[in-house]
Amino acid sequence: MQKNPIVPFILIMAFGIGLIFFLSIQGVDKKEEIAAGHEEGAEGGKAETAEFDPEVAKGKCISCHGGDLKGSVGPALAGTSLSKEEITKTIVNGKGSGMPAGLLPEDQAAQMADYILSLK
Ligand code: HEC
Repeated sequence: MQKNPIVPFILIMAFGIGLIFFLSIQGVDKKEEIAAGHEEGAEGGKAETAEFDPEVAKGKCISCHGGDLKGSVGPALAGTSLSKEEITKTIVNGKGSGMPAGLLPEDQAAQMADYILSLK
């Protein structure tokens, strides 16, 4: 009997279709696992941007207020007698000619004020 030259192609095609089904069924099985992994990643990223780290924010202040915020060009912040509201307002609005406004958004400014008051 003469071998039909198209048979190998049909075999390869059948194998390919089988492979596609196999992979998609595997994908359905792993769907929840993959989705869970993505959620975890998204939450992790969000936490990083939302979390306020005073040690990082301090980087915007130390050039004028000194490495430990004990004062240099600007007055000492550690041990200040200002209230949380006054500190928050100063960070948001600036002060005099030397203290720039808007270094931190207001919610972070309030957290920074807490941090400054904790330095006493
Ligand atoms: C470009 C320099 C500069 C930077 C940067 C800077 N400050 Fe100041 N800051 C000053 C100066 C100068 C004053 C004093 C202003 C005055 O009394 O006229 C001041 C005053 C203050 C005061 C009021 C202190 C007081 O006893 O009256 C606070 C609070 C303060 N800064 C917080 C911060 C924080 C928090 C940061 C970082 C987010 C920061 N500053 C960054 C220069 C700076």
